[in-house]
Amino acid sequence: MKFDFLSESDQAYFIHKASTLVEALPYIREHSGDTIVIKYGGHAMGDKKLSESFSRDIGLLKEVGISPVIIHGGGPQIGERLKSKNLASNFVEGLRVTDKETIKVVEEVLSKDINSEIVDSISTSGGKAIGISGSDNLITATKLNIELKDSDSNIEKIVDIGFVGEPKSLNINILEDFIKKDQIPVISPLGKDEQNFTYNINADTVAGFVAGELKASKLLLLTDVPGIFNEEKKLISSLTLKEAIEISGMDYISGGMKPKIQTCIDAMEKGVSKSTILDGRIPHSVILELFTEHGIGTQISNN
Ligand SMILES: Nc1ncnc2c1ncn2[C@@H]1O[C@H](COP(=O)(O)OP(=O)(O)OP(=O)(O)O)[C@@H](O)[C@H]1O
Ligand SMILES: [Mg+2]
Repeated sequence: MKFDFLSESDQAYFIHKASTLVEALPYIREHSGDTIVIKYGGHAMGDKKLSESFSRDIGLLKEVGISPVIIHGGGPQIGERLKSKNLASNFVEGLRVTDKETIKVVEEVLSKDINSEIVDSISTSGGKAIGISGSDNLITATKLNIELKDSDSNIEKIVDIGFVGEPKSLNINILEDFIKKDQIPVISPLGKDEQNFTYNINADTVAGFVAGELKASKLLLLTDVPGIFNEEKKLISSLTLKEAIEISGMDYISGGMKPKIQTCIDAMEKGVSKSTILDGRIPHSVILELFTEHGIGTQISNN
């Protein structure tokens, strides 16, 4: 058969498109009805075109019966805002040291700027997104103390990194109500303690926590690298939960990758069956991961 209005290369292009759709069908069926928690990294959301394609992908998930829940980061954007105010950015174990002035900037950048940008972008592509800050009655946090080993004496010491918290409880009803109403929650990674202090929480940690509490079927962490690299800097394409636990303490897992692996482990120990760390700089990375045969990134699975 020949379409006289299409060139041969156009035909090949459209046939390829059609077969991609057909290939996606069993995956769409498999995931339909699932809740999938997606961490959208500060590093992965810098580019306008990419953020538009991300928003369209999220809208598509909803259309095929998946309930996406988005947690966003904001590391680079917070860093820039602090710089413009002549405030320093310091990290311990991949976590931002957050004093009184820093937490104000963190709140402003995350809950006001980035959250509404993502909500607007998803809404523009037709999804019903709803923004909520974790500190808005959603996440109860406690202060996080880091234990570090002194490299000379090998003695463990507790390091105070200020208003950095860890999630303790989640007001699930709020999220379930949004999901019931077919809304797409977009959550800023903040929490409040019982004294009403606001804490900055690593966005990966929040994503894993929310995934575990919601008993989500999948956790996707979008970042600015292809996945987890081994010590030879080669991409690890899959890990079992046991293997992930084994490598989490290795020297080649550092900075922001540490909380990422830990949160996958925590979520999966609470029943999430798969976690993937993937490159958010690739257009349609979420669709490639969920709806194609090979997926992308590093997948951690429960067996
Ligand atoms: N073994 C490893 N494999 C891959 N990346 C690693 C590894 N060890 C450390 N990293 C670092 O982890 C970084 C990803 O975490 P990072 O916290 O910087 O980004 P993010 O979580 O995507 O963004 P944000 O923190 O702003 O939400 C990579 O850019 C890389 O430099
Ligand atoms: Mg990070």
